[in-house]
Amino acid sequence: MSDERKTGEVFLSGRELSREFGYGEHRTLAVNKVNFDFHRGEIVSIVGESGSGKTTLAKMVLGLLKPSAGEIMFEGKPRDISNYSKRRQYWQTIQAIFQDPFSTYNIFNKVDSVLQDCLRLQGFKGLSKEEEFAKMKEACSFVNLHFEELSNKYPFELSGGQMQRLMIARIFMLHPKLLIADEPTSMIDACSRATILDMLLKLRDEINMTIVFITHDIGLAYYISDSVYIMEKGIIVEQGSADEAILHPTSEYTKRLLGDVPKIYEPWDFTKAG
Ligand SMILES: Nc1ncnc2c1ncn2[C@@H]1O[C@H](COP(=O)(O)OP(=O)(O)OP(=O)(O)O)[C@@H](O)[C@H]1O
Ligand SMILES: [Mg+2]
Repeated sequence: MSDERKTGEVFLSGRELSREFGYGEHRTLAVNKVNFDFHRGEIVSIVGESGSGKTTLAKMVLGLLKPSAGEIMFEGKPRDISNYSKRRQYWQTIQAIFQDPFSTYNIFNKVDSVLQDCLRLQGFKGLSKEEEFAKMKEACSFVNLHFEELSNKYPFELSGGQMQRLMIARIFMLHPKLLIADEPTSMIDACSRATILDMLLKLRDEINMTIVFITHDIGLAYYISDSVYIMEKGIIVEQGSADEAILHPTSEYTKRLLGDVPKIYEPWDFTKAG
């Protein structure tokens, strides 16, 4: 968490946002009148147990699911993604990553065309081969990949770690204002998770994007976030700075989640180790 760091103005908000699925006795209110404000450059975590509505909320923000009620404000105005060109414009500013890197790629595209697609999406036209090459190389070196060694490979020919780094190289090229990272329940190993986080934080510093991190892990949320939203059964039951929401929780639900991570706020005392 970095309370001292100044984050910018609000650029995306939700107002009384709801989404339901099904009818009658099968009706589920997945997201129930939630309000949020995401600021430029901040790291937000959305924490909650399985089924609490986190992915549904993310999909509404991404414009992949229509809200049943409520409104999303984007750069101070009601978001308008009512036609293809408006949606395309919106998607130039917002990206999502999932920690299963396979889901990000078309497996029949080689690495160079994965990255070339990013240049197109960014609206770069008429670049020379050398300019394209330089931009792709720059993105790869940001994540410690050697473009020349990988450019001719298919995603399934990369190692898991290379694939994850390629995913971040794409984000580097796309320069989104908002990145949503939805973490699946099945955890990737702790080491590559830490590497991904490190790179995302470095990227945030580089291009001042907002990161919305969706996780079950309240301990992780505390360490990486500026703001935290805790969701229970579609409702935001706690929100605030990481310190407010996690060190001084008011809801029983947050206290229960914290019960799984005892003494989160006590600094490690290495003198007592061993
Ligand atoms: N397309 C859908 N049709 C019907 N119900 C759905 C649909 N998508 C989600 N739901 C329901 O909405 C609720 C919230 O689901 P959601 O996927 O948002 O939870 P989540 O917090 O992301 O959970 P997890 O941590 O397991 O990913 C669940 O009860 C789920 O069954
Ligand atoms: Mg989910």
